Amino acid sequence: MAAELFDYAELLRPDLPPAAARWTAFPKYNFVGGHNDADSVPVEGLIAAAATVLKREGSSLSTYGLQSGPLGYRPLREFVARKLANDAGIACSPDEILITSGSLQGLDLVNQVLLSPGDTVIVEQMTYGGAITRLKRLGVNIVGVAVDHDGLSSSRLKTALDDLKRRGIRPKYIYTIPTVQNPTATVMSEARRAEILGLSVDYGVPIFEDECYADLVWEGARPRALRGMVSDERVIHIGSFSKSIAPALRLGYLVAGWPLMSRILGIKSDGGSGALEQMILAEYCRDHFESHVRTLRKTLRRKLDVMIEALRTQFGAAAEFDDPAGGIFLWVKLPENVDTTRLMQLALQSGVAINPGAEWMTDAAAGQTRLRLCFAHPPEQVIREGIARLAEVCHREFAVPARSAREHR
Ligand SMILES: Cc1ncc(COP(=O)(O)O)c(C=O)c1O
Repeated sequence: MAAELFDYAELLRPDLPPAAARWTAFPKYNFVGGHNDADSVPVEGLIAAAATVLKREGSSLSTYGLQSGPLGYRPLREFVARKLANDAGIACSPDEILITSGSLQGLDLVNQVLLSPGDTVIVEQMTYGGAITRLKRLGVNIVGVAVDHDGLSSSRLKTALDDLKRRGIRPKYIYTIPTVQNPTATVMSEARRAEILGLSVDYGVPIFEDECYADLVWEGARPRALRGMVSDERVIHIGSFSKSIAPALRLGYLVAGWPLMSRILGIKSDGGSGALEQMILAEYCRDHFESHVRTLRKTLRRKLDVMIEALRTQFGAAAEFDDPAGGIFLWVKLPENVDTTRLMQLALQSGVAINPGAEWMTDAAAGQTRLRLCFAHPPEQVIREGIARLAEVCHREFAVPARSAREHR
């Protein structure tokens, strides 16, 4: 049989990550990943934008790069430049913006141009699991620095930088998610940002700023981006439309000066990010982005309130968390005897998916009692039912909460 003749297992390169499991379906109570609210996807607006832009310039799909070059569709880059100037205080031209296939591609590109095995990077001790996995795969040394209620701790960062300097190590970058941190959902103050920028200069270490959730701050104006507080190239900035419009569009952006950008373009080897998505998004966002995210924020805040109420009802004081400043996640701490990796496995058998804290921390053991819950995707009633099921599973295995969810009612 042909299948036996071609056993790819023998041919695979030896340093591949583990094989993927086959996808079956989303669990009913899906609190993992960064999925968004289904009813908030602006379907009608996207249909209208698609019709308008395709009628006007659909024939430009005949070219790679839509007559806009490798940085991406120019009207979308112009929109991003205006948005970054207005919201984040970043003064950059459309020619300093690269449209990427999600901000994940931005992460990969920056890592590919900067990191070799054995290099060192500094990241927040609680951080995006996808960033940790990538860094591990690259054979990079990861130094985790504590996060407090104001985001990345500047005093701990200084200690880490001093320690590395003493050992003759210059980290390649400091990776931070300052605005609606993942997973803690804190928003770093401008004063803290200034301290971190100061350390970046003092120790000659660039900052890699990930602003995936910056459009989803509940109240008031968001602080300036780190990139918006400096006039030099110290900060590489990435952002995304995944959390503001829809993750399946796979569109994000990267801001960098030409010396770095020209090297990044040299390895962005996909022939350009999805052109139709870029055209539709540019057309839609020009007039509708602001009002769309205003409404989305209200929807997400409502869902967060439902999740908080469900946790208080089902877990009582056993579940500890801060009220997030924005975003789509709640970062929860359970009592010491709970192992959330085990809880994740058991909960999945009851149709409840959660992200265990160990995957969101540089020191996996320190995340054992933590879990991350995404409240954006499930409808409100599903959030209530899912948290009730989670409490039942947790009570059965760990006697947490002390009374079963049913007795609570
Ligand atoms: C902090 C952070 N950065 C980047 C990403 C990647 O997002 P995307 O590739 O959809 O833009 C995520 C996804 O959840 C994230 O949480």
